[in-house]
Amino acid sequence: MQIQENFSLKQYNTFGIDAKAKQFSFFSTSDELADLLEYSKEPPACILGGGSNILLTKDIDGTVLKNEIKGIEETGEDDNYIYVKAGAGENWHQFVQYCIGRNWAGLENLSLIPGNVGASPMQNIGAYGVEIKEVFNSLTAFHIHDRTIHTFTTGDCEFGYRESVFKRKYKNEFVILRVTFRLHKSPVFHTEYGAIKDELERMQVSSLSIKAIARAVINIRTAKLPDPKVIGNAGSFFKNPSIPHSDFLRLKEKFDSIVGYNNPDGTVKLAAGWLIEHSGPKEGISWKGYRTGDAGCHAKQALVLVNYGNASGKEIFELSEAIMQSVEKKFGIMLEREVNIYR
Ligand code: EPU
Repeated sequence: MQIQENFSLKQYNTFGIDAKAKQFSFFSTSDELADLLEYSKEPPACILGGGSNILLTKDIDGTVLKNEIKGIEETGEDDNYIYVKAGAGENWHQFVQYCIGRNWAGLENLSLIPGNVGASPMQNIGAYGVEIKEVFNSLTAFHIHDRTIHTFTTGDCEFGYRESVFKRKYKNEFVILRVTFRLHKSPVFHTEYGAIKDELERMQVSSLSIKAIARAVINIRTAKLPDPKVIGNAGSFFKNPSIPHSDFLRLKEKFDSIVGYNNPDGTVKLAAGWLIEHSGPKEGISWKGYRTGDAGCHAKQALVLVNYGNASGKEIFELSEAIMQSVEKKFGIMLEREVNIYR
């Protein structure tokens, strides 16, 4: 067990914020995690995965433990499915590629999402018409106080839009150890999302495959979303808000080009990127492409806030506040952050 003091987390959060942890250590098994918890006595201040969904606005006056649990194994199969278990510390995109390489289908639309396997159920990650809950089977998680290992099925996780029990009622109680996915032996293609259809056409794909879909998703993401290795970011900073249909009609009368999608429950999910693009720090100036110091709003996708180099977490947080206030003022809609804020 190696514990480092006053440790910079700059390499361990995709925003690239230079906040420090009072103590820092890795764990690669549940026994190592138990030992670290025993040693540090008090509960960890933060469990880090890939650091791709967190904004650190100050130093962490406590222990940060980074999940490095690795390993991918096939745990079973039936007529239709392959069951595959991955360590929470596996890189998400590498895991997706591993599955695509074996022709196990279901994760291709989720290619190139930054972060690790452990965050995928925590967040119910989703993109281009697919959410993790559709391919999730179960997970094991370590209870920080009881030091026991629990199994969670799909029902136990209470998945919602970018939500699960691990972000709400069990917040900071469990450490996700391993996740088992149920992948299709014969692919079920999800190409209904407009951008995928357009990209597949542009690629002139003659016979559809999970590899072609993954390629299309990778092309779209690289064109629109900044690579965290080049420009610090944590993907979508805000959630897309849902509003009653009647409110949507009222907004549509005033703002003809507003973008919304019908939810199955009759409400309308608005594209927060559109709301942000159509508001700004001053009348006539859009947030999209706006920069103050090293904090900014991405020029190709307004839902993504970026760190051009040396922004502090506080500066990015303040920019997010200003964006929320102006969207509220113009459209009467309060945006909700998707990224976890450490403050
Ligand atoms: N739009 C604008 N201006 C912008 C950005 C978007 O007008 O600056 C409008 C466009 O009309 C576009 C629509 O918003 O057609 C939707 O945009 P996009 O397809 O880029 O998706 P999104 O709703 O902005 C969500 C997820 C992304 C995911 C994409 C694709 C959330 C919070 N974000 O973004 O997830 O990749 O759909 O499925 O739901 C993430 O969670 O970190 C993430 C990147």
